[in-house]
Amino acid sequence: MPVQIIVGAQWGDEGKGKVVDMLSERADIVARYQGGANAGHTVCIGDRQYVLHLIPSGMFHENITCVIGNGVVIDPVALMSEIAQLRQAGVSIAGRLLISHNAHLIMPYHKQLDAARERVSEKIGTTGRGIGPAYIDKAMRTGIRIVDLLDRDEVARKLAVNIEEKNQILTKIYGESKLDVDAIIAEYVEFDKEIDEYITDTSAYLNAALAAGKRVIAEGAQGALLDVDHGTYPFVTSSNPTSGGACTGLGIPPTSVNDIVGVVKAYSTRVGNGPFPTELNDATGERLRETGHEFGATTGRPRRCGWFDAVALKYSAMVNGITRIAITKLDVLDAFDEISICTGYEVEGRRLRAFPTDARTLERVRPVYETFPGWKSPIAGVRTYGELPVNARAYVEALGRITGTSVWIVSTGPRRDQTITLT
Ligand code: GDP
Ligand code: IMO
Ligand code: MG
Repeated sequence: MPVQIIVGAQWGDEGKGKVVDMLSERADIVARYQGGANAGHTVCIGDRQYVLHLIPSGMFHENITCVIGNGVVIDPVALMSEIAQLRQAGVSIAGRLLISHNAHLIMPYHKQLDAARERVSEKIGTTGRGIGPAYIDKAMRTGIRIVDLLDRDEVARKLAVNIEEKNQILTKIYGESKLDVDAIIAEYVEFDKEIDEYITDTSAYLNAALAAGKRVIAEGAQGALLDVDHGTYPFVTSSNPTSGGACTGLGIPPTSVNDIVGVVKAYSTRVGNGPFPTELNDATGERLRETGHEFGATTGRPRRCGWFDAVALKYSAMVNGITRIAITKLDVLDAFDEISICTGYEVEGRRLRAFPTDARTLERVRPVYETFPGWKSPIAGVRTYGELPVNARAYVEALGRITGTSVWIVSTGPRRDQTITLT
C-alpha cells in the first residue's frame, strides 16, 4: 500500500476524520492535500472528541508523521490555535508535523472578502474561512506562499501591493473599512517564527518516504460533490477534493496511488446552499439531524439531511475511481421502520441516465426511491459483519450493489472500536 487516498464521496462530513484516524494504525504518514480550515474532521478517542481543521487526522497515533501539502490554504490563526489545543491535550507535535513551503496563506483580507461577497451576491453559504478568495489569489498568481515568509522585505512588498488592491475592492465595492498594511505584516512575521520548525519541501519528503517503502494516507477534505470541477458548481468549494487533487495537492505521482477509499455516510447531508435531490424537509429529515447530531463541526450550522443518493454516489465513484467504500453512521438508522435509497432521477417524467452536475437541472430532478425495512435494534457494539441484524446487512449490501462499489468498512459509532472491517 504505497498511497491510499481517503476521499469524501458525498457533500462532506462523511466521517473522514474517524476513518483516517482508524486507518492510521496501518500507515506511516497522513497527508492533507486540499482545502483549509473550512474542514472540520472529528476524531473520538475514548470519551474525548477532537475537531481538526488543518492538521491531518492521523495526529493521534504517535508513530504517524502528519503533512499539510501544497494544495492546502493555511490560516495562521487557525493553525496556531489548533497546535495549541493539541499540545494542551497532551499530543506531542514536535517532529511530527510538516508543512509545505509551497502552501498558500490565508490573509485577513481573504476572510473579509469571503464574508462581504456572501453578503452582497448569490449566497453559496460558505464557511466564511476565506477559502474562495485565497484560491482566487493562487490562480491569479498574487497569492502569498509560506516560502515567501523567508524574505521579510519581499513579503512586505507583495503584501503592500495586495492590500492596496484589496482595499480598493473592500471600500469601493463592498463599503468596508480599509486594512492596515503594517499590522498585517507584523502579524505574519510573528507567525513565520512560530511555524519555522515545521516548514519543508513536503513533496520531496513524501517521494523519498515512498521510495523507502513508507505507507502514506492522503486525506481529503470536503467531498466530491463540492469539488470545484466535478461538484455541483457554483455551490462548491474552491479546490479539488476528488482523488485527482491528492497528486497535485501533495506533489506525488498518480502511479504511487493504489487504493482510493470513498467515505460514504449511510444517508445524505449537505451544509450551505445548492441542489440536494434527496433532501427531506420534514419530520424524517429532522429525525436524521437529531439522531445523527448533524450540526457543522466548523460552523455549528444545522446540516440539511436526506436519504442516501445512489445516483450521486455512482457518479462520485466514477470521478474518484473509488476502489472500495467505508460506510459510516449506519447506527443512526437503527430505529427507523423504513429506509430509502434514491436509485434514479426523473425530470418531467423522463429518467436521467447520469448525474447532472449542472445545478439548474439538479434542482429540478425528482428522486426515485427503493425502500428497505429497518433493523430496529442498536448496532453500536457489534464487532463482526455477521453479527449485524439481517436487515442492516441487506441495507449495506444494497448500497454496494446499487452504487457498484465494494464495501470495505462499516462504521457503527464515532469511536475507533465501533468499526467493522469486511474481508
Ligand atoms: P468529516 O468532516 O468527514 O471528518 O466528518 P465530521 O467530523 O464533520 O462529521 C462526522 C460526525 O459523525 C462526527 O461528529 C463524528 O464523530 C461522527 N461519526 C463518524 N462516524 C460515525 C458513526 O459511524 N456513527 C455515529 N453515530 N457517528 C459517527
Ligand atoms: P469537511 O472536510 C461540509 C461547504 C460550505 C459551502 C461550500 C463552500 O468537514 O467535510 P467554502 O467555505 O469552502 O468556500 O464553502 O462548501 N463546505 C463544507 N461542507 N463539510 C466541509 O468540510 C465543508 N467545507 C466547505 O458549507 O456550502
Ligand atoms: Mg466535517
